[in-house]
Amino acid sequence: MTVTIEDIKSAAPANAPEDVIKWVAEIAELTTPKDVYFCDGSEEEWDRLTSEMVESGMFTKLNEEKRPNSFLARSKPSDVARVESRTFICSEKEEDAGPTNNWADPKEMKETLKGVFTGAMKGRTLYVIPFSMGPVGGPISQLGIEVTDSPYVVVNMRIMTRMGKAAMDLISEGQVWVPAVHSVGVPLEEGEEDSTWPCNDEKYITHFPETNEIWSFGSGYGGNALLGKKCFALRIASTMARRDGWMAEHMLILRLIREETGEQYHITAAFPSACGKTNLAMLQPTLPGYKAETIGDDIAWMRPGPDGRLYAINPEAGFFGVAPGTSYDTNPMAMDTMRANTIFTNVALTDEGDVWWEGIDGPTPEHLIDWHGNDWTPESDKVAAHPNSRFTTPAAQCPIISPDWEAPQGVPVDAILFGGRRATNVPLVAEQYEPAHGVFIGATVASEQTAAAEGSVGALRHDPFAMLPFCGYNMADYWGYWLEMQEKLGDKFPKVYQVNWFRKDENGKFLWPGFGDNSRVLDWIVRRRAGEVEAIEGVTGLYPKFEDFNLEGTDVDKEAWDKMFAIDPVAWETELDDNAKYFEQFGDKVPEALKAQLTKFRERVEAAK
Ligand code: GTP
Ligand code: SPV
Ligand code: MN
Repeated sequence: MTVTIEDIKSAAPANAPEDVIKWVAEIAELTTPKDVYFCDGSEEEWDRLTSEMVESGMFTKLNEEKRPNSFLARSKPSDVARVESRTFICSEKEEDAGPTNNWADPKEMKETLKGVFTGAMKGRTLYVIPFSMGPVGGPISQLGIEVTDSPYVVVNMRIMTRMGKAAMDLISEGQVWVPAVHSVGVPLEEGEEDSTWPCNDEKYITHFPETNEIWSFGSGYGGNALLGKKCFALRIASTMARRDGWMAEHMLILRLIREETGEQYHITAAFPSACGKTNLAMLQPTLPGYKAETIGDDIAWMRPGPDGRLYAINPEAGFFGVAPGTSYDTNPMAMDTMRANTIFTNVALTDEGDVWWEGIDGPTPEHLIDWHGNDWTPESDKVAAHPNSRFTTPAAQCPIISPDWEAPQGVPVDAILFGGRRATNVPLVAEQYEPAHGVFIGATVASEQTAAAEGSVGALRHDPFAMLPFCGYNMADYWGYWLEMQEKLGDKFPKVYQVNWFRKDENGKFLWPGFGDNSRVLDWIVRRRAGEVEAIEGVTGLYPKFEDFNLEGTDVDKEAWDKMFAIDPVAWETELDDNAKYFEQFGDKVPEALKAQLTKFRERVEAAK
């Protein structure tokens, strides 16, 4: 029994255009699903799919009183994070993917994909998910259609994107859309029992930047499978953005309000995966006089507005946040956001049917079911929740979501932050000397690796602009494009700041309290923007004066301050040599302006000796 074009036409909404029907038919012919279903994004659809998944064992329903309308999924241990080693940019020319991406020839990869996708959806439903990244119909928004054989993907996409009828209506009007094909890669034979987390050991996360196509095979997890997120909104969008004069960035968006005057400042910040974007996006300022509102926690699309400033939207509709470490202490707004209507993946389950993870509030329960589905007690030598366990939760539920978070034209950006986990060398905050120095700051981001991707946790790695795994083209061309945008917008382009919440003292203790106290750094940045404070010229950038910086209510004293801003010229010499070597792999593509910044930096280090 195969799906015919007539089956697809009768399953599709009446206004589904011919090109959509034809494309779905092609995918169905290749993958041979048992049936085809077009998603409308309704609540009824969510209820039905989640019930079916509870029945099949893929979802555990959480306690309706403690965590209404919420579910837990447990993945296979081999499918817990993004797989960078299996992520490919298939541009016509290898140099357009650049040395930091895996490249594959588009024709060869299409052949490979044809092979693995053949019959891949056998015994499963092919779901068609029309979606909008950004408010439906907004001038910066974009449309896509993901086909998938995973109901887990469907319900996650319903939270993470504007999914369903409204998007299909725009597609039916003839607007362009990005095609994205996904399969978990586990065909089901007649009568064969399904796994609760089907996935394939062989994985392909592939992007075709010249034709705006995405094909993903073998994984059901996060950015590998929710194709609107990293695949579309970063890798494909970054190439589109370069073609069309805008920017797609791995950045949170935050509005900071000075309560006394009502002035609003919009700040975007790029930190590598699991380095604190969600935390900063939901900041609860400890500094009196400030209020923060959340706009986005992972991705920013930015476009020059009519006034020549840069305007940012959050293309997503939900948060796919790291669970461990999240608590009422570290991120109360995230805790409140996920109180209902949330999907949890790879966290632990309590005996009351609620969720638990390392770092959550309260005493550790005497008994849990861990992320493998096994009994767990505090005596266990393993963590109960996977370090990259996540919550998928609607952004609209965030108590401090900005009333303008869906403003179609976006919000004007006042400052751009770059940061990473740096136990040494990098001071708490530094302002760019000049625009090209800002790009240098972004290009030289390095961070201790986290569990968000495969690899050894803790190892320092370069992650330029926090975009290493997400830039859809040659990273050095991307630096060049940043310089171009800065030139184009002139003094309207936001100033760049380097921040580091993670510097440690000689005993391995964080020097900076972080979290809500990061508002103190933003306070200094905002006062710099308003021209109210002067800065000191330092080796890595412009630093705050100790006496200008509001530390009242913290236990950060002058001694700790000096440690946070200490510069060891020898260590910096080594770091700059390392950066120079990193640049070398890009050959001629490294912009002259960045080489000039390296020289200037070396001179500052020399002078500090
Ligand atoms: P992705 O969703 O993977 O892109 O990452 P993200 O940047 O949104 O990560 P998230 O905000 O979830 O990072 C959480 C981790 O950063 C947790 O381990 C937090 O404890 C840690 N973190 C966040 N802010 C701070 C801070 O100010 N100080 C310290 N020391 N840790 C922080
Ligand atoms: C990240 O790794 O930066 C994430 C999670 O935001 S995922 O969507 O899985 O890529
Ligand atoms: Mn991310």
